[in-house]
Amino acid sequence: MHKNKSHSELDKLKTNLEFSLKQSMKNIDSYTHVRGESLYVDDVNVREGTFYAVVFDSPKAHGKIKSIDYSEAEALEGVERIFTYKDIPGDNQIGGIIPDEPLFAEDEVHFWGMPIALVVAKSELIARQARRLIKIDIEELPVITTAKEAKEKDSFINAPRSFNLGNTEKAFHDCEYIYEGETFSNGQEQLYIEAQGSYAEPLENGNIKITSSTQGPTAVQKTTAKVLGLPMHKIEVDVTRLGGGFGGKEDQATPWAVMAALATYHLKQSVKLILNRHDDLRMTGKRHPYESNYKIGLSKDLKILAYEVEFLQNSGASADLSPAIAERTLFHATNSYFVQNVKSTVYSCKTNLPPNTAFRGFGGPQGMFVIESAIAKAASELGVAARQIQEANLLQENDVFSYGQIAKQVEAQNSWDAAKAIFNIEELEQKVEDFNKNNAAFKKGLALMPITFGISFTNTPMNHARALVHIYLDGSVGISTAAVEMGQGVNTKMLQIAAKIFAVNTSKVKIETTNTTRVANTSPSAASSTADLNGKALLKACNSLLDRLKIVASEVLNVSKDSIELKDEFVYCNSEKTTMSWTELISTAMLKRIALTENAHYATPEIHFDKTKEKGHPFAYHVFGTSITIVTVDCTRGTYEFDAVKVVHDYGKSMSEGIDLGQAEGGLVQGMGWMTMEEIAYDTNGRLLSNALSTYKVPDVFSVAKNIEILPLETLGNDMAILKSKAVGEPPLMYGIGAYFAIQNAIKAFNPNYKHKFHAPMTPEKVLISLYNK
Ligand code: MOS
Repeated sequence: MHKNKSHSELDKLKTNLEFSLKQSMKNIDSYTHVRGESLYVDDVNVREGTFYAVVFDSPKAHGKIKSIDYSEAEALEGVERIFTYKDIPGDNQIGGIIPDEPLFAEDEVHFWGMPIALVVAKSELIARQARRLIKIDIEELPVITTAKEAKEKDSFINAPRSFNLGNTEKAFHDCEYIYEGETFSNGQEQLYIEAQGSYAEPLENGNIKITSSTQGPTAVQKTTAKVLGLPMHKIEVDVTRLGGGFGGKEDQATPWAVMAALATYHLKQSVKLILNRHDDLRMTGKRHPYESNYKIGLSKDLKILAYEVEFLQNSGASADLSPAIAERTLFHATNSYFVQNVKSTVYSCKTNLPPNTAFRGFGGPQGMFVIESAIAKAASELGVAARQIQEANLLQENDVFSYGQIAKQVEAQNSWDAAKAIFNIEELEQKVEDFNKNNAAFKKGLALMPITFGISFTNTPMNHARALVHIYLDGSVGISTAAVEMGQGVNTKMLQIAAKIFAVNTSKVKIETTNTTRVANTSPSAASSTADLNGKALLKACNSLLDRLKIVASEVLNVSKDSIELKDEFVYCNSEKTTMSWTELISTAMLKRIALTENAHYATPEIHFDKTKEKGHPFAYHVFGTSITIVTVDCTRGTYEFDAVKVVHDYGKSMSEGIDLGQAEGGLVQGMGWMTMEEIAYDTNGRLLSNALSTYKVPDVFSVAKNIEILPLETLGNDMAILKSKAVGEPPLMYGIGAYFAIQNAIKAFNPNYKHKFHAPMTPEKVLISLYNK
């Protein structure tokens, strides 16, 4: 009200968004974000008579339910009804990959926080009060919280998987140096700002519409239909945007939507279910902790001749996405390196934790951490810099991955060389060395981290998308795809594509909500592939319309179609501007009864994978890059500050530089958080201790490098990427792994006797212990 000035500044911002097809185009959501006008699930206009729900969950990690007494809760004024598995008309089953996960517990509970019932009341407050009145008696069973213990007890989600190349056993005979060791990387809370939530409303004839904060609208639709015993067409799922997903809403947005829909099904009323932070942290899965052991063999000239690794994935109480995440760990087990002889195995270990789930990188970071640990261990034992081993083994053109894909358009060496040259690695190392010579109480450490990340859903059948484009008769355009906007800026990229093909002002294009009635049978927005898959479908649809419009123009102007071009909202003929505007072209097409709607389908070509052989060509392409991390450790306190993270990243030909840089910076910082400060803790009874932001620390503006510099690698881009602009969502997270090793190197500078322990995150407590550990 009193901020007229800032309003006009914001209006200016909006104007800047228009007519800007530049690669530096701002995120189209920035205008409504800063004004607080962006809509999330919690902002839906609730219908008269809407009920509010909270989930009653297990207060024990494992046990038999002896009895539950809902009577007091049900008697509370304002409570409408409490739903349990007995109220499910279809299947009490929400498992996506393996049907091993009930929506509501029946006779047993398998993790602390496992949903048992849904309390529905006139207000959320009443529902919460009622929840406290429920009495449950559980006969406790033994609790497993670690992957190692699960493996010892043969508690697995499914059979282990192995990717093998060459013959490690034979190769170890030829190795000059062999090292073995163990590593641990902890989980990570997705901590999307918008907690999980959904709003279900009854439509006519028993149809239900769900507004959900999900990365996977079709997963919500399909699972709701299954649980309610309805055909999918009776369930409509709509997503405007997410306040962050990070993988945590790929699969685990589903139960809350299904629960709200179940209540709506019975009550014929709208039901809103938004988890508060405590409930969300307790009930949802996180990045998988991994316990791993490795054996690495090197030649005299530091070539990695053989690498064996066994990953124990802490999957939690049911499969969720664990098998797919385990698979991606194997795909990235050798990171950016070519290793001729590889034996890698992953076990998805069933424990009594919430089912762990997707998190940016999807198992890839866990795989990379182990080989980087193995290299650091070898370097430390040999008394060489890790970067010498890293450099000696970088992936080259036509090298083969353990899964059979031949590496093409490889930028591993290029990004490595570019990072070293641009940032002057010798000078940086000299500075660190000089500093360490002259300082006793503070030590600096430096680490390089190359990354290679495969782009595509590793499950080949998921690599498809569709786009629906309407050109309205006034020339404005509406676009629907399966892309879910979750802060990553995919809507901006979609808008850029349409505006570019039609050569219209970006204000002429509107990106519609993601809705299952407009785009059906979608893959989730995940695997960094959303812009590629949906963008390629959109490109196809727009090009079909463009072709049609060119014919219209050529008929009216009586010229050949090939001479027609659209530019600046006008028809051009042989590069000459005509008097026919875009709007006129559209109205002419309407009069000629030409279809102004197009639907296109895109399926990534070339990719395939044979799971019986564990060989194939699963990725459309790879993304490469190299980071240099420099840290200063306070050797009295064990605290540390990052001086700088310098990155050369392979964006391909970025179509949206501002958005891509935002993704790279955000991913990097999130990866640093995982490696350094974010410490998930469960007690031995399976109770989450880090259950609030007071006990779970994430990076803030003060805790990351003051100097993050991410430069683009000059490349040709890749045709499989949308407009040659490579996927950028996940890969940069793995630069953050460098933070771990930079800290280790600083510790080593202080304490030469320090034996590397590869146990992430490297919190200040662990740093302090390591500094003085003899
Ligand atoms: Mo993403 S971790 O593939 O949802």
